[in-house]
Amino acid sequence: MKIICVAGTRPEAIKMAPVILELKKNPDFDVRVLATAQHRQMLDQVFAVFNIIPDIDLDIMQPNQSLPILTARLLIKLDEVLQIEKPDVVLAQGDTTTVMTVALACFYLRIPFGHIEAGLRTWDMENPFPEEMNRVIAGRLAKWHFAPTPSSRDNLLKENVPAEKVWVTGNTVIDALHSVSAKNLPLDLPLDETKRLILVTAHRRENFGQPYREICRAVKHIADNNPDVQILYPVHPNPNIQAIAYKLLDKHPQIILCPPLDYLPFVAAMQRAHIILSDSGGVQEEAPALAKPVLVLRCETERPEAVEAGVVKLVGPNFDAIVRECQLLLDDDSAYRAVARGVSPYGDGKAADRIHQVLREYASQCD
Ligand code: UD1
Ligand code: UDP
Repeated sequence: MKIICVAGTRPEAIKMAPVILELKKNPDFDVRVLATAQHRQMLDQVFAVFNIIPDIDLDIMQPNQSLPILTARLLIKLDEVLQIEKPDVVLAQGDTTTVMTVALACFYLRIPFGHIEAGLRTWDMENPFPEEMNRVIAGRLAKWHFAPTPSSRDNLLKENVPAEKVWVTGNTVIDALHSVSAKNLPLDLPLDETKRLILVTAHRRENFGQPYREICRAVKHIADNNPDVQILYPVHPNPNIQAIAYKLLDKHPQIILCPPLDYLPFVAAMQRAHIILSDSGGVQEEAPALAKPVLVLRCETERPEAVEAGVVKLVGPNFDAIVRECQLLLDDDSAYRAVARGVSPYGDGKAADRIHQVLREYASQCD
């Protein structure tokens, strides 16, 4: 059975890598890796870490790409490549433009499509934008829905997806994390060992402009008011983020701005961090497993499990809330210990194996 595994952006590659490596162990599967390269440098970094060389590379990324043009170019290239390759199964992960266009191309070409990390919802098309729309479309078109948690399965059932098409697998991000986190990870940065480290990431489109400025102002305020704190902020290469981050935060003696870290140093930075401020989906899943508190720089989350477990808190892109909640974690030991508990609601590290079993069963029915 020929399976094409697609990844376009950094988080898709991190979360697809364990699936690719697992499926490749099966001699009955012909596994091909298709990189759309919606991200270029950040995608290449991750595949290099997992020793994965894409078989097909669409090399789509353009500087500051617009969503309609990205979508149109992806559909045209995916049509060409899928018509040549004629896979039996296509898999994609998450809620990016890559995933939505892959699901749509597979639907038009009548190729069975499996959606990994299925069923995440905020029920708000504006938050996150455009990811909620992307995953709703992928969810309408998938043959297999690999839901990370029971609550993501329930979301799909509410949308009338038949229960027999949904498998609760855990999130493959935890498989990836387990595969690297025991290693002695490199973190080659001038960190001050005497200071508590706050790690920051931000990239969401709905935060562009004023909300993101507010996040940066809060980060600076926290640094100004806490001389015993150092802030490490690997800045996402999206030009809408770069321009503001370097304008507002550069050259502060306690703030290190740097390009995106490779996956291994980034895991090392999460391990080393005292607190994480982030609007990232993946970081919300990884940090609780590493017992690190996360203040989520968003108004809503499709990952309610960690919020309900009390190990992640939504603060929004809101200056007062970010500063207040961060200061509480810095000042109050018992408040800190209540959130830094090492809870892992997103999986046990065996998600890729569960996905493999489902596809093995399907292959046996096709024989
Ligand atoms: C994309 C996804 C988002 C995901 C995020 C993960 C969409 C619409 N957005 O957002 O869901 O959470 O990736 O990081 O699918 N760039 C580079 N080098 C890179 C990557 C990006 O220079 O390796 C720059 C380019 O100028 C590019 C821009 O960032 O045009 C935006 O990339 P894009 O994938 O469109 O959006 P992200 O904000 O990265
Ligand atoms: N990550 C990384 N380097 C960084 C920042 C994040 O390798 O400098 C990893 C992180 O461990 C997580 C993933 O990238 O697995 C999250 O990606 P991102 O925040 O870009 O996207 P999202 O998860 O929000 O879609």
